[in-house]
Amino acid sequence: MSFSSDLLKWYDASARELPWRGERDPYRIWLSEIMLQQTQTQTVKGYYARFLERFPDVFALADAPEGDVLKLWEGLGYYSRARNLHAAAKLVAHGLGGAFPGNAEGLKKLPGVGPYAANAIASIAYGEPAPALDGNQARVLSRVLAWEDEIRTPFDLLSPALKLLDRQRPGDYNQALMDLGAGICTPKAPKCDLCPVAGHCLARADEAQEDFPRKPAPVPKKEQDWTILLVFAGDRLLVRQRPRGLLGGLYEFAAVEGHFDEAALAGRMAAQGFGGFRFAERLPDSKHVFTHRVWRMEGWLAACDAFPEGFIPVDAEQLDALPFPSALRVYREIAGEKLGRQQK
Ligand code: ADE
Repeated sequence: MSFSSDLLKWYDASARELPWRGERDPYRIWLSEIMLQQTQTQTVKGYYARFLERFPDVFALADAPEGDVLKLWEGLGYYSRARNLHAAAKLVAHGLGGAFPGNAEGLKKLPGVGPYAANAIASIAYGEPAPALDGNQARVLSRVLAWEDEIRTPFDLLSPALKLLDRQRPGDYNQALMDLGAGICTPKAPKCDLCPVAGHCLARADEAQEDFPRKPAPVPKKEQDWTILLVFAGDRLLVRQRPRGLLGGLYEFAAVEGHFDEAALAGRMAAQGFGGFRFAERLPDSKHVFTHRVWRMEGWLAACDAFPEGFIPVDAEQLDALPFPSALRVYREIAGEKLGRQQK
């Protein structure tokens, strides 16, 4: 038997029972796939039922106030999903007369519907032979094929995935792979003894299941040196709001990119517009590791008589009320202590 017939035979006998299984209504399928994108199946079940009770069709969802949609979404996280969901419902209800686009290409034009969701919805709702390639499906297929190339995105496997896909029952086939990836072909310690397609699996034949998928080497983190300066103006400390971008909208202290000796640093502070700048104390170093970068920070306590536009002098209470990035936690704590001491 072929890979897909073995898979579908297993699916017919042991598919997970989920509320959206057997569904043909694109509205319901779309809703379930959007919810399932970043949330566990078990959690989605309850939200899916509550959503459908409150918004039984795309018109009900489109015409609801955004606050109601966000409220029902509360706890699912990633609120941009809920905003996109609402925007897509409005587009379908009022731009397309209530009919969802009839294929994956059209579905991809809806806000919040990417290539994975478009293929999942089109295969389940319309029987379109489109592989729902997400991390799970990519893991399963990369093992079955012992796929040696690095997989940067699941769609790197599009061409072999299209060859394996069942053309008669693409929706069931996709969901069978989801079930297999969730329960059997797991990232660690896959349960190959229970796997309906173990006989087709080239990775298993080599006892190399966990060597697939081949992942690209992690991108080295960009290292940045910063000098963070807690600068007092009188008995208040200077802070400013970060512009849009990394940590945008949060507050920070005076900072200069790089590490310097005192003379060079004083020169840079003067160039930034700090008048009468003087050092008070060297503060501890600190390091913060982000997903793609590392900040190596040196710290100084300092004072000035004049400061550039954009800085706000704050007392201890005001400092407490402002949001700071956790990257600056060490300096924020010191700032709190120093301000407390100043005000005594
Ligand atoms: N994850 C994403 N889509 C799913 C579906 N239709 N069934 C089970 N898990 C899923």
